[in-house]
Order: sequence, then structure tokens, then C-alpha cells
Amino acid sequence: MDSNGLEGVVVANTELSDVDGERGRLVIRGHDVEQLALHHDFESVCALLWRGALPDAAAHATLRTALGWARVRAFERLPSLGDALAAANAMDALRAALAHLRADEIAPTELKLELTAAVAVFAAAWSRLRDGLPPLAPDARLGHAKDYLRMAGADATADRARALDAYLVTASDHGMNASTFTARVVASTHSDAVSGVVAAIGALKGPLHGGAPGPVLAMLDAIGTPEHAGRWIACQLAAGQRIMGMGHRVYRVRDPRAAVLEGAVEQLHAAGVRSDRLALARAVEAVAVASLGERQPERRLAANVEFYTAVILDAVGLPQALFSATFAVARVAGWLAHIDEQLAGGRLIRPASRYVGPMPEVCEAA
Ligand code: COA
Repeated sequence: MDSNGLEGVVVANTELSDVDGERGRLVIRGHDVEQLALHHDFESVCALLWRGALPDAAAHATLRTALGWARVRAFERLPSLGDALAAANAMDALRAALAHLRADEIAPTELKLELTAAVAVFAAAWSRLRDGLPPLAPDARLGHAKDYLRMAGADATADRARALDAYLVTASDHGMNASTFTARVVASTHSDAVSGVVAAIGALKGPLHGGAPGPVLAMLDAIGTPEHAGRWIACQLAAGQRIMGMGHRVYRVRDPRAAVLEGAVEQLHAAGVRSDRLALARAVEAVAVASLGERQPERRLAANVEFYTAVILDAVGLPQALFSATFAVARVAGWLAHIDEQLAGGRLIRPASRYVGPMPEVCEAA
């Protein structure tokens, strides 16, 4: 089937984020992602996306507490989720668990908080249950990143929480990516926010979108040491496989988010939380970029956000099985802002297709 995957097609005007693929720049509501990740936490970026401005100290404290209590309420829902969290795959579990929420039972003003909290609580609970351990209750006094780490059973030190915050901020929104588009399509039918988020999770699960960081870590493990990178990458490409964490629909240069996450891992190193995978990832990236460049000089393929997502989420102590779900913990903030924006000004999204199948035979009159 010939299709350009809507490449370059503008489907909405948005005030939420701008992806400049030529210059490698991501702006979220007027702020460069590098600045947001350095100076702000996830709650601040939720306020920015949902309300249009970074919060002052009082508004930040209010939002942080409200999100904390929303996590507590999400935890109280765990017994009513049936066997949703028993799924072997975290994204299957998340999709099924969130589908238990009913938008008409939640006050419209609370929906964003409840859904954002639920994604984190359900993902962390899934991870604990998978390990045969009871879910850990939220601590409403903590920031979202630190509490997510703690609920997932990781060592939630201040340094690790700060690194995870940098990740959550960096991954919170990114133009008209596939899952955001999915959420907007659902919202455009005037369906509800729960349905939009559930559908978006389905889109995020795919390995061409949010499913890549797990395979990136598996690749780094399979390569093992920098000197094996060249041979491993060559074998993959010869077998017709894609190199995960490389290439992007929009960026023709290195994804700016890769540098932000690489910097956050460096900061963790400086704080004494060392990950051998950073040096390996850098070596593999260099080999992959060179090999892909030789193969397709006309289409520059560079590292995307998922490449260093694998490194940072591993460094903060989250298991590989939780990587895609952790992407959802961040991106739900963007999905919800896009759902609001779509409802505020958008029309039903209903593109056209070109029929290339057979037509009924016409009986010519004799
Ligand atoms: N490894 C090897 N080749 C790649 C590649 C990769 N990571 N990414 C793209 N290519 C090649 C394709 O094979 C294709 O070659 P062809 O024309 O000879 O068939 C060409 O580049 C164009 O690929 P296409 O799939 O049309 O580009 P896209 O804009 O749709 O792809 C991605 C964007 C992200 C889906 C793609 O780069 C990819 O699959 N990357 C790996 C998965 C990943 O990291 N996803 C996370 C994205 S944030």
C-alpha cells in the first residue's frame, strides 16, 4: 500500500509545542526543552501545558499536592481493576487498567489530574505485581517523579528523582506525534478524555513510537562492549533490521531530547550514580550513525529520544519492562493538553482515502 504516513501534513494549529526538524529544536509553550528540563519539574510542565504558563511557587505547591492526592485516589482504585494489571506487557496492563476509569464519574476539572496520576500509579503497581510484590501506596507529599520511582520499588534518591524529572519534562509533549494525533482524533469526535488517553496508549505501544527504548537497552546489552558495535550493527542492517533509537520522522539532525537526557545521565554520574551504559551508548551511537550514513547518505539518520531514554531510565533504576509505560507517565500531560486544545477549536478529524480496489462490474446494456 503506497502511503506517505501523512508526512509533512499539517493537521492542527497548536500552541503546545513546536518541533523544528531541520535545526533540532523543541519548544514547549514558548520554552526550549533544554531550559525546562534543567530548571523545572514535571508538575511545572503540567501547569505550562494545561494552563499556558509556568506556575509561581504557590501554584506549583498546590498542583503538586493535588497531583499527590490524585495518586492516592488512583491507588484506591486498584482493587476495582479486575485482572488488568496481570497482563504480561506493561502497556497492555496500562491500557486495560485505564479503561476502567469512567469520565462521567470524574469532575471535568479533575480529569487531567486523575488521569495523570492513574498512569503513574497503575504502571508502578503493575511492575510490583509482576515481581510478585504488593503495590506500594503513594506518598502525596512527594513530587510526582520521586513518588513514581518509589512506588515502582526503585531507590528514589533526590538525584535519581531529579534525573527522572528531566526525562518526564523532556518527554511531556512533542508536536503531532502518532499517539498525540490519536488522542486528538478521538477528542475530535467529542468522545471523552479517558477514551483519548486509552487510544493514545495503544499508539504509543508500537516499537516505531514509544516501544523503542526497551529494544535499545536490549541492543546495548547484546553489543556488550564498544568494539563489538560495528559488527553487531552491520549484521542487523544486513538482516534488514532497523536500529532502534535511530531515525525520526521530523528530525534531520540529532533529536535535541537525546542531548538533554544524555546531560541528565552525566549529572547522575557526577552525583556518583554511575552507569556503564552511557559510554557504551555513545560508542554505539557513533557507529550506528556512521553505518546508517554510509547506507543511506541522502537520508540522515541520527539518535532519537529513545536512544538515551533507555540509558536514563536504566540509570534511575527502572526495569526495562517499564520503559514504555514510563513514557506514558510523561506524555499523558501532553495528550491531555492536546485533547483540550482539540475540543476548544478543532473540527472532526476525518481525512479522505483514495480507493484503489476493484469496482463492481457494470453490466453494459446490449
Ligand atoms: N534503522 C535502519 N534504517 C532506518 C531506520 C533505522 N532506525 N530508520 C529509518 N530507516 C530507513 C528505512 O529502512 C527506510 O529505508 P528504505 O527507504 O530503504 O526502506 C528509510 O530509512 C525511511 O524510513 P521510514 O520508515 O519511511 O521513515 P519514517 O520517517 O517513517 O521513520 C521512524 C521514522 C522513527 C519510524 C524510523 O526512523 C524508525 O523505525 N526508527 C527506529 C524505531 C525508533 O527508534 N522509534 C522511536 C522514534 S522516536
